[in-house]
Amino acid sequence: MLTILHGNLLHAPAFGTLETIPHGYLVLEDGVIRGLFPVLPEACAGCPVTDYGESLIMPSFADLHLHAPQYVMMGMGMDLPLLEWLDAYTFRTEARFEDTAYARRVYRQLASDLIASGTTRVSMFSSRHTDATLVLMEELERAGVTGYVGKVNMDRHAGPSQEETAESVAETLRWLESCRFQLVKPILTPRFTPSCSNELMAALGKLAAERDLPVQSHLSENTGEIAWVKELHPDCPQYWESYAKYGLWKDRTLMAHCVYSDEREQRAMAEAGVWAVHCAASNLNLCSGTASVRELLDRGVQVALGSDVAGGDQLDMSRAVVMAIRASKIKQMETGAPFLTVPEAYYLGSTAGHLYFGGGAGFQPGHKLHAIVVDDSAFPEPARELTLPERFERAVYLMERRHIKAVYSEGAERLHGNT
Ligand code: GUN
Ligand code: FE
Repeated sequence: MLTILHGNLLHAPAFGTLETIPHGYLVLEDGVIRGLFPVLPEACAGCPVTDYGESLIMPSFADLHLHAPQYVMMGMGMDLPLLEWLDAYTFRTEARFEDTAYARRVYRQLASDLIASGTTRVSMFSSRHTDATLVLMEELERAGVTGYVGKVNMDRHAGPSQEETAESVAETLRWLESCRFQLVKPILTPRFTPSCSNELMAALGKLAAERDLPVQSHLSENTGEIAWVKELHPDCPQYWESYAKYGLWKDRTLMAHCVYSDEREQRAMAEAGVWAVHCAASNLNLCSGTASVRELLDRGVQVALGSDVAGGDQLDMSRAVVMAIRASKIKQMETGAPFLTVPEAYYLGSTAGHLYFGGGAGFQPGHKLHAIVVDDSAFPEPARELTLPERFERAVYLMERRHIKAVYSEGAERLHGNT
């Protein structure tokens, strides 16, 4: 059945490109985009129209790096550097997710908050707990959040969250056997090199190859971490090679941060098809540094954005987009590399992430609709009439959940109204 959304259509189909159709029509057939039109096509006469009036209809966000159990510790320990923050807060918090009833409460809230803030695709770290990870996947699916979730593997240097090596592998297998979800799929998740023994890394690399599973982890986030990896793997000239050695460095591997990736590491990413997930808020909060996003892009590395809750203090990806812009301006002041424009950063926070999962480039026909509807009428009354690109820019900077009036994920409306 054809259905139609009417409103101001905005999307970023390519990096740096913003396309707008004022008072346009987005035609859907069973949730799949059939086309964008400035006037209603005759074939659509009589089809039901959802009229969003003056609101902005734009692609939803994709968050390619966040830690679900850290949702309860957002804004905590922000004065510590990474490795101390992990020990003082993170591992202890994650250990609580042994309790699946607690996990259920937290993850239901998280899933609903993701939709409320317009994030419809994610690649997420769970804790090491198989049962809580399955609860997380179930709650995401129920809310309409799609993408990947990983049971975290960590058999050393992980405090109270640590597992035995054999248990980590056996639990990963049990988890994979139990994953039967339509929209939420498993991704192998060695936490980072310091938390995984060589034996565990090898077992996960073997599993990734045998079952053709994607992989996510952390890379070159902090100087102390990099020095530690060097001690643990003296045979690896660079951090990334500790993953490559075990078959974890491959097409579509997601690597969060990449703050200190130099030309050689960046080229290794581009060559292997490894994606960089830029988490600007986290990198500033933990005083990790500012990633060279422009350089990564110029060298052909695919880049998407992550909130990195809870190194990042905000779940809303609109905030992650703005932080990516600000961080790129800091980088420009340091190195002269051009900062990210609003359409560029928005592309990284929406289209790039959707493409990672095989979605469309903006509102591309043939793909299920992932969209948000933003009502900007509650923003301060502008001093003059704004163009659509100006309204888009203001929406990126000012939108809060209460301005997001509807969210579509996989072609279905998952949120109607927001408070
Ligand atoms: N490196 C290893 N674990 C983590 C984590 O939980 N957050 C961040 N930001 N970096 C990490
Ligand atoms: Fe992280």
